[in-house]
Amino acid sequence: MKKKPPLNKPLKNGLLMCPPDYYRIEYEINPWMSVKNPAIAEKARMQWESLVQILTVKFKLAVELLKPRAGLPDLVFTANGGLVAGKRAILSNFKFPERQKERDYFKEWFIEKGYEVVLIPSEIAFEGEGDALWMGELLFAGYPFRTDISAHPLIADHLQCEVVSLELVDPKFYHLDTCFCPLTPLTALFVPEAFSLKSRKILASRVKELIPLTPDEADLFASNAIVSGNKIIFQTGPETTRKKLEKAGFEVFPLDLSEFIKGGGNAKCLVLWL
Ligand code: ARG
Repeated sequence: MKKKPPLNKPLKNGLLMCPPDYYRIEYEINPWMSVKNPAIAEKARMQWESLVQILTVKFKLAVELLKPRAGLPDLVFTANGGLVAGKRAILSNFKFPERQKERDYFKEWFIEKGYEVVLIPSEIAFEGEGDALWMGELLFAGYPFRTDISAHPLIADHLQCEVVSLELVDPKFYHLDTCFCPLTPLTALFVPEAFSLKSRKILASRVKELIPLTPDEADLFASNAIVSGNKIIFQTGPETTRKKLEKAGFEVFPLDLSEFIKGGGNAKCLVLWL
C-alpha cells in the first residue's frame, strides 16, 4: 500500500475559476508577460478545460465559475481575488491599476454567494491566495511585490491564525505561489533563490521538509501546483521532482498549462480555494 501524505488544513472542497474567454497578454506587469508573445486563445481554452476536467473528475472538487469580462484579461487568475476561510472572504487590493477593476467582480461574486466580505484599507496591497498559502494551521504570506507586509497582521487578525511573513526577492517569482507550494503540513516545494536569506531561514525553521526546485523547474512554474489530499496537478516537464512526489505518495497529474505561463501563471493561479 502506498503511504498517504497527511492533509493540509483548513480542508476545502470547492474552487472558483474563470473561463479564459478574454485571456490575453495586453500589458506587462510581471517579467513573464510580453505583449510580443501573445497567448493562443484556442490552446489556452483547451488547457484550461483540461484543468477543469482533472479538478472535477479526478479530484472530485466542485468548480464554481466567475463570469469572464472583456477588458480584464487576468481575471482568469482567480487566486488573486481574495483569501477565503469558511464563509469569510478577505477581498484583494490589486497592486497594479491594470487589475484593479477585477476587485468589484470578486466582491460581487462573494456577496452573491453569501460570504462575509472583509475589506482591508485600500492603500494596502494584497493579492489574495497568490500571496497567502495554508500549511496545516499556519498561513504563509509573501511580500513585497504584490502584497504589502502591513497586510499580514490584518489577515492574521481577521482569520485568527498565525501568519508567517516571507520576503520575495526575485521579480520573476512575484507571488508566493510562484515559488512555494505546501504539500502537507510538514512538506513543501520551494524555489530557494526566490526568498531573502532571512526568509529562507524562517522557512527552514518552520517547515520540516523543504523540497528545493531547480531553476529550470522553477521556470516551468513547478511550484504553482494544485494539491488536494494526495493528488497534485503539476506542470509537465519537471521529471525529477515529479518522481520525488510520486515516491512521497502523491498521485501526480501532469498538465501542460504553457499558455498561462505567458501571463506569469500556472495551475494554482487559475483557482481560488473556497
Ligand atoms: N498576469 C497576472 C499578474 O501578473 C498573473 C497572476 C498569477 N497569479 C498568481 N497567483 N501567481 O497579476
